[in-house]
Amino acid sequence: MVKQKIIIANWKMKLDMPASLALAKEYQVKFKSGTEDKEVVVCPATIVIAEINKILAGGKIWLGAQNVFWEERGAYTGEISVKMLEQAGCRYVIIGHSERRQYLLENYQMIHQKLKEVLSDSRLIPIVCIGETLKEKEAGKRDYVIVDQLQQALGGIQLLSQQQVIIAYEPVWAIGTGQVITPLDAENMHEIIRASLVDLFGIDIINKQFRIIYGGSVDSANVAGFSELDNIDGLLVGGASLKAEEFLQIVKKL
Ligand code: PGA
Repeated sequence: MVKQKIIIANWKMKLDMPASLALAKEYQVKFKSGTEDKEVVVCPATIVIAEINKILAGGKIWLGAQNVFWEERGAYTGEISVKMLEQAGCRYVIIGHSERRQYLLENYQMIHQKLKEVLSDSRLIPIVCIGETLKEKEAGKRDYVIVDQLQQALGGIQLLSQQQVIIAYEPVWAIGTGQVITPLDAENMHEIIRASLVDLFGIDIINKQFRIIYGGSVDSANVAGFSELDNIDGLLVGGASLKAEEFLQIVKKL
């Protein structure tokens, strides 16, 4: 089953507010036409989401957030709920990015709770990040780590028939390092992820409701290697999404 490819820009905390708004305006102009066959998403810092929603109105780019909290409301200082993200204009949300796992000690139990909360509302689409560290890879534990992360994040999750989930395979050693995975290796890992998801949900749901994407040092020079692989449904792009033309080239070439 051929799924529409999705390319997600993750701006992280790399741009201040004026720079974020300026880049959103550039995106809006550049992505006016020529990329209709793909789904393009931008995930800016939370503080500019509502403003960027106005900039992107009527265009072809979807909006996403970089994080969300697992409770609906309450005394949770500093946190942002699913509903708030929706009200600000989001359609997607990244959950469990490795930078949050590393610097904020987010674990897969939290990621599971966040995923459950996102799916309790049927409109927001979660982008669940998984990926092994260099140490785990070198110790030969990669497959085990990936399957374990998937089971912890997704085990026991119930999906409604129209709900979509995106799994972003992002090896930690490839994020922001310029060290990209070989397309063959990515294909192999995506096969393992797919098999593990089939164990959890069954093949029908995986074919219809899941997309598996790759992230880690993708740019316009290496993206061609991924475009031929049919088990890669898209990309999560950090550094190379900070320049509108570079990001456009990635989207076009995938
Ligand atoms: P990168 O980041 O493209 O800069 O490696 C990817 C990500 O963290 O999602």
